[in-house]
Amino acid sequence: MRLIPTSRVTDGALLGADVQIGNSQGIPLLRRGVRLTDRLRDRLIALGVHAVYVEDAISEGICPEPMLDEDTRIAATKAVATAFRAARQAFERNEPLGEDSLLTLQQVVGRILERLESCGPAASLALADMASADGYTFQHSIDVATVGLVVARRYWLTHGWCDHQGVRRYDRIDSRLGELGMGLLLHDVGKLGIPRAILHKEGKLDAAEWSLMRRHPRMGVDLLATDLLSPLVKGVVLRHHERWNGSGYPDGRAREAIHEMARIAGVADTFDAIISERVYAPARPAADGVTVIREGAGTLFDPAVVVAFCAVVPPYPPGSEVTLPDGRCAIVVSVEEGHFDTPLVRTFDGAEEVVALGAATGPEALSPGAGRVSTRPATVPA
Ligand SMILES: [Fe+2]
Repeated sequence: MRLIPTSRVTDGALLGADVQIGNSQGIPLLRRGVRLTDRLRDRLIALGVHAVYVEDAISEGICPEPMLDEDTRIAATKAVATAFRAARQAFERNEPLGEDSLLTLQQVVGRILERLESCGPAASLALADMASADGYTFQHSIDVATVGLVVARRYWLTHGWCDHQGVRRYDRIDSRLGELGMGLLLHDVGKLGIPRAILHKEGKLDAAEWSLMRRHPRMGVDLLATDLLSPLVKGVVLRHHERWNGSGYPDGRAREAIHEMARIAGVADTFDAIISERVYAPARPAADGVTVIREGAGTLFDPAVVVAFCAVVPPYPPGSEVTLPDGRCAIVVSVEEGHFDTPLVRTFDGAEEVVALGAATGPEALSPGAGRVSTRPATVPA
C-alpha cells in the first residue's frame, strides 16, 4: 500500500489502512478494504483527512508497520479520552485529576512500552486527523508518547540516563520510561483549561491569546497536584516547551537546566505537531518533521536527543511517495536501521533500487498540497 493525498483518490480505490479519527472510542472512521468513492473522498477532505493509504498494483507487497497496533491504539485512545474528560471536569471544579484516571493511564503506558519492544526499526505513526481540538489533543498525546518513548529508549540504552548528580546510569531504565510515558501522555492536559475559541482559532493568536496559551504547561501541572505522580512526570508537563537555547516557555530555561525527559518531550511534541493535521496547518510529511528536528539540533533541541531521534524515526517510512534526485516519483518499499536516508524504492515502472535521499528532499507528492510543502521554509509550531 502507499500513502497518497486524499485529493488524488480515484473512484473505486481500495483503502489500505484504517482511517483514524479523533473519537473517544478509538474506532476508525473507515476500515481498510473499503472501496472509496468520490463522495467518500470529499467527505474525508471535509473532515480534515488529507492523506490516506491505498492498496494498488504499484504498491503491492509494501506493508508499512504502525508503531502502535490497532488494539493498543484503541485501548490508549479510550483511556486518554476518559482521563481528559475527567480532567475537563476537574478544571471546572478546580480540583486535581482523580486517581482512577492516572492508574488507567499508567496501564496504557505499559501497553505502549510492550508494543514498542516488538516493533521494527521502520515503524511509523498512524495518520491521525483532527476531527476536533479535543480529538487532536488526545491522539497527539498518544503519538507524542509513542515517539518520545522510542527516542528515550534508544538514548538511554546508548548513553544511560542522567541522575540529579549528573551521573549517567543504566539501571531502572524501564521505570524511567514509565514515568516519561506518563508525562508525555499528560503533557498537554493543561490545554483543556484554554478556551476552545483559542484552540480552534485558524489564524494567528493575538498577544493576549498567545499569553494564555503559554500558560498551558503550568495549568497542566496544577491539575496534576497529586502525590501519585512523581516530580519527574510533572516536570515533563511543565517543561515540554522549554528549548535548548532558552527561547522556550514558561521560564526560558536552557540546556541542562531543562530536565532530560523534558528535552526528549520537546523533540517528540514538535515532530508530531508537524506531521499531524491541525486547525491552523495541514499535516506535513515525516521527512519535513525530521528536517525541522535535525535543523534545530543545538539551537532548539538537545543535540544528543536529536541523534537518538534520527536513529529511530525514519524520514521516509515504507509506503510514502518520494521524488528521486532525477525527478522521478517512487514509493518507499523498505528502510534499514542506520540507513534511513537510503531507502529501497520502487519507481512507477516497477523497478526497485536503493536511492540516497537527503532529508531535505521533500516528498511533495505525499503532501496534501502537492509541491507546497517542499517550497515552504521549515517552521516550528508553537
Ligand atoms: Fe504543549
